[in-house]
Amino acid sequence: MSIFQITGGKRLRGTVAASGSKNAALPMMAASILADGPVLLKGVPWLADVDTLSSVLRELGVEVSRSDAGLTLETVDTAPIRARYDLVRRMRAGFCVLGPLLARRGRAVVSLPGGCNIGDRPVDLHLKGLAALGARLRLRHGYVIARAGRLAGATIDLDGPRGPTVTGTANVVSAAVLAKGETLITGAAVEPEIVDLCGFLNAMGARISGLGTPTIRVEGVERLDNVARLGGVAYRVIPDRIEAATLLLAVAITGGSATVTGVVPGHMSGVLSVLRAAGSRIETGVDRVTIAAAGRPLPIDVAARPYPGVPTDVQAQLTALACVARGQSTVRDDVFVNRFMHVAELNRLGARIRRRGRGVVITGVRRLTAAAVTASDLRASAALVIAALAAEGQSVVRRAHHLDRGYQRLDEKLNRLGARIERKRSPFADTITQPTEESNHGGNRHEEPQRQGMVEG
Ligand code: EPZ
Repeated sequence: MSIFQITGGKRLRGTVAASGSKNAALPMMAASILADGPVLLKGVPWLADVDTLSSVLRELGVEVSRSDAGLTLETVDTAPIRARYDLVRRMRAGFCVLGPLLARRGRAVVSLPGGCNIGDRPVDLHLKGLAALGARLRLRHGYVIARAGRLAGATIDLDGPRGPTVTGTANVVSAAVLAKGETLITGAAVEPEIVDLCGFLNAMGARISGLGTPTIRVEGVERLDNVARLGGVAYRVIPDRIEAATLLLAVAITGGSATVTGVVPGHMSGVLSVLRAAGSRIETGVDRVTIAAAGRPLPIDVAARPYPGVPTDVQAQLTALACVARGQSTVRDDVFVNRFMHVAELNRLGARIRRRGRGVVITGVRRLTAAAVTASDLRASAALVIAALAAEGQSVVRRAHHLDRGYQRLDEKLNRLGARIERKRSPFADTITQPTEESNHGGNRHEEPQRQGMVEG
């Protein structure tokens, strides 16, 4: 298990590159089950979640290997259909194999993902969508047992009580590409990661239109023969807008100035508006965002919402920024209403946050003070790291291994900008060995990440 020792108070400056998007890469990896030939995904970040999904896929007969070119996925055995609890519970995106398995192999036994630290996360919409396509579904012993002949196109609404479902849209679209006839999905997620998944599926020979709108039309094809004919498809995943936003917020809380490269600024408009409202100067280029923060931020009022709103995956980090604002801020999460595990830990760092209704009220303080804190989930860990960068003294963030699920070496990226973060291993098992930033840029990144234990959440 990793511990971060963070000496706060350094203004961050410089340039750092964003990695490829975790939440775009994971459903694409799952959808590689649909392909007849090898799939090459470029820009897949080195993450524990990628490692876990690779394990799920290997058990499903997919060979997964890393090279300089990217992540190659190739089905070598179409018989396995079971994704087991021990892997799927670690990472919800494992549930995204259900749609592709049903469409390609006609059967699937996939563990329900279970609860997690960010609250209630049902999968009823995934199941409703797949049932509408003709799947016969049963729940037994914590598993979804699904069967289907050839799926058939249908009209499906995926809007839920808190907006459309992102991975539910991924599951249903991935299944519909091989269905007979046309599928019309209304209330579809419009997140850039879903647009990217559809772009990837189209590159494999699928016929999907309406990308980036709430109405997606899928014209089913017999097989994704593009893949067979061309001997594989190569596709580059979009940059990680959540990682990029996290880096910008780290710079903002320290009153620094820096550039994050390799991003799509248009994917980040919600967060960039909040940063501007907080008093930061933001300039965008084709593939970069430059931030110049002016001292303490101004207070912010934020409600996390589905795209193009401020993402729930940045809510905790924005809450951290508000801790040092010049006045009172409010933050609400309309997607995961109970995603506030970070609040008590931020208060240990001297923040003044209290729950009010469906959100929190934050009274900004001039200075946070170092403390030992414990991370509960991926984005909460990022919020604690951001807050510790602004805290006086040396903080310790325990269970920092959560970060490795979704950030490729965040500590090294922040250190490049002048942060002082030391990663220490506790005597217990860790999650994954990522390449260092240096080896990633210069050298050998051919080897598989080493598994060293369990991932939670
Ligand atoms: C995806 O999760 C992301 N994960 C999450 O990122 C992200 O927080 C979330 O979308 C929202 O943007 C991946 O892409 C792998 P949802 P997902 O289904 O798809 C309700 C991170 O930190 N709902 O869009 O599981 C649900 O309760 C992670 O990187 C139903 O009611 O989220 C929630 O309120 C964490 N029924 C809302 O929809 C369903 O069947 C959004 O959930 C499904 C969802």
